[in-house]
Amino acid sequence: MNSTTQARRVLSGMRPTGQLHLGNYHGALKNWVTLQHQYEGYFFVADWHALTTGYEDTSQLQDNIREMVIDWLAAGIDPQLATVFVQSQVPEHAELHLLLSMVTPLGWLERVPTYKDQQAQLKDKDLATYGFLGYPLLQSADILLYRPEFVPVGEDQVAHVEITREVARRFNFLYGSEPDFAKKAEKALRLLGSPGAGQYAQARRRYQESGDPAALIEARALVRAQPALPEADRQRLLGYVEGLNISILPEPQVLLTPTPKVPGLDGRKMSKSYGNTIGLREEPDQIAKKMRVMQTDPARVRRTDPGDPQKCPVWDLHKIYSDEATRSWVVEGCRSAGIGCLECKKPVIDRVVAEATAMRARALPFQQDPARIPAVLEEGAERARAAARATLDDVRQAMNLKART
Ligand code: TRP
Ligand code: SF4
Repeated sequence: MNSTTQARRVLSGMRPTGQLHLGNYHGALKNWVTLQHQYEGYFFVADWHALTTGYEDTSQLQDNIREMVIDWLAAGIDPQLATVFVQSQVPEHAELHLLLSMVTPLGWLERVPTYKDQQAQLKDKDLATYGFLGYPLLQSADILLYRPEFVPVGEDQVAHVEITREVARRFNFLYGSEPDFAKKAEKALRLLGSPGAGQYAQARRRYQESGDPAALIEARALVRAQPALPEADRQRLLGYVEGLNISILPEPQVLLTPTPKVPGLDGRKMSKSYGNTIGLREEPDQIAKKMRVMQTDPARVRRTDPGDPQKCPVWDLHKIYSDEATRSWVVEGCRSAGIGCLECKKPVIDRVVAEATAMRARALPFQQDPARIPAVLEEGAERARAAARATLDDVRQAMNLKART
């Protein structure tokens, strides 16, 4: 499925933070595993992004990449289905980043909310760097290089996809025009045949009149369903939906990941920086030990005090891991002080342990043979480079960076 232009693409990345925890899993990774079956997936390790805040000490970088990729595979990412790679092994990301930097106003980057937020939050680091300001633009390059339809991310990354769309629009506006474009697009339209051409025209009208994203998706799908279309005409029709330019860098859409609340052991959001995590591949004993002391409803001081699941982080885990019957047992038992907190935690501990045990089993072959992860990543990088080169070729051509032959 990988080299066709028909399959719809999704692309997403993660900074290499080392071993992942349950928050990373339920907030992103689990969703990738589902998406890889429905789309042509590109999933990459954003190691250059890690440098934007972690440039002072890079000693753990290789270990962190390796451990995170093992977690991806343990969670069920299948490198036969999806393309799994490391950003820095595809230097095309850097070239597109450079070219986009020429057309991106500084103000756009300064106004991305994460820019000032992160600087304020990570006060112990000097983030008044060129690289850190460029973080969202590097992300734009990551995305646009693969012309994905969707970028599955959580709420915290929406602003980055938004600026990506703006950068793409500006790029297409500057370099995507072609004399007689509308005429050529109408001619290409006929190649869609019947009923495709009519459906396309209708979807295009709907999109232009109301901005209905479903219409955009539908029109693009009609174009992609026509593999015999010459590449230039395909580009024209993809662009024609949105306006009167070729879409050299199509605007991607956010695919917002539904993120359940994953509490850490102290009741705050699970996060590496809070030191309140449960790892995806932790040992059963370790998981049980941590969870036995996990924060509960503070009102339950004694076993006989009734509690309220709404005020208890353990309940948030029940919502993720427990079936209906267990959940009613919890609500009932907690409110009436019929069960103790340790008793209540038991089924969650069992489920988390079972999940981790399955992950550990799937990780084992990769741990036993250290050459396997680099091999997976090399193969992924090769596929990614092929897709990236095709985009960059068009970009270079559009910017007149190629001699005309
Ligand atoms: N900024 C993202 C994060 O911190 C990681 C990332 C880098 C990314 N490049 C991307 C995500 C491209 C989606 C698409 O989670
Ligand atoms: Fe939380 Fe369960 Fe204890 Fe109630 S019984 S406070 S839901 S751990």
